[in-house]
Amino acid sequence: MKVRPEFSIMTTRAQPIDETLWQEFVASVRPRLAAGTKFTERESLASKTTMRVGGPARVYAEPASSEELRQLIVEAKRLALPVLLLGRGSNLVIPDSGVDGLVINFGHANWQKFEPQADGRAWAGAGLRLKNLCGLAIKAGLKGFEFLEGIPGNVGGALRMNAGAMGGWMFDVVDEVHLMTMDGDVRALKKSEMHVAYRHCEELHHAIALGAFLKPAATVESSEIRQQIDTYQKKRVESQPREPSAGCIFKNPTGTSAGRVIDEAGLKGERVGDAEVSTVHANFIVNRGHATSADIIGLVRKIRAQVKSAKGIDLEPEVLLYGQDWRDVL
Ligand code: EPU
Repeated sequence: MKVRPEFSIMTTRAQPIDETLWQEFVASVRPRLAAGTKFTERESLASKTTMRVGGPARVYAEPASSEELRQLIVEAKRLALPVLLLGRGSNLVIPDSGVDGLVINFGHANWQKFEPQADGRAWAGAGLRLKNLCGLAIKAGLKGFEFLEGIPGNVGGALRMNAGAMGGWMFDVVDEVHLMTMDGDVRALKKSEMHVAYRHCEELHHAIALGAFLKPAATVESSEIRQQIDTYQKKRVESQPREPSAGCIFKNPTGTSAGRVIDEAGLKGERVGDAEVSTVHANFIVNRGHATSADIIGLVRKIRAQVKSAKGIDLEPEVLLYGQDWRDVL
């Protein structure tokens, strides 16, 4: 009997997928895709992440347009194949075994637009890097996006994770998100219609962000924005490591900072294989060269156990374990 796993974005499957389903998917979708769409099998993912670990994607696609995206997800749904989004790969750990799913990335230039509108808002495509968003906002004299400068993600990932830094988070600057449902329908949702929390956006656990209309705080001289960005940049360079990492590995527990409690538990410099608790900021696990995802998972386990025993605090991972659930490995 064929395994027909529950269709899902970013969730765990109980059983492996029958290989013939993938063959059927590839044979049916490939001829329908436009020339600009990248579509490959067993694509290595490690180099597409900031942590630089992990195995391949069973199928990998960079759709050139919404229509290509629709073709991919509708067919994946028909065959009950899992679909996973990959942004800049800056907030996840890819398992060493890779991902038995369709991995979609907005690498095509069509998803990287930044377009100031006559009504004062600005459209930002899901594939636009936050760093580029900040640069383009400076040029347009649009203030309010400065806190995003140091986050190594793109707009789609930042929406899904409600990414944050320097006291701000993504949804502070969102007016309206455009998303595609897993049936291939495009919807526009106002921020007030969405369920957003710390590092969480409910609607984007079941749908794909295509981009958003963002609301600048004000229109000012570019030099004023530049100054604020320089201040944030300086703070970040002084307080966060340079080595490959996935940013903060744990969510901050209520009322304190995960970095502080891991530091106080004496874990800076602790290692499993080539995965190391950063000596600069204890809530970062850095890859000292050849770390595997097994090393990182091992170190996450060790940190959690020691922080629990020293402080009585249960730390919850902030980064995603791609295609799996942390609860199954911790
Ligand atoms: N601290 C220590 N030891 C450490 C690290 C931090 O004592 O090793 C102390 C600091 O001295 C400070 C406090 O902990 O008093 C908070 O540190 P920090 O200002 O670095 O902020 P954070 O809470 O650790 C949060 C976000 C970061 C974001 C920074 C800067 C989370 C989990 N982390 O870190 O986001 O860049 O604020 O705004 O919310 C991320 O999400 O991946 C991330 C890096």
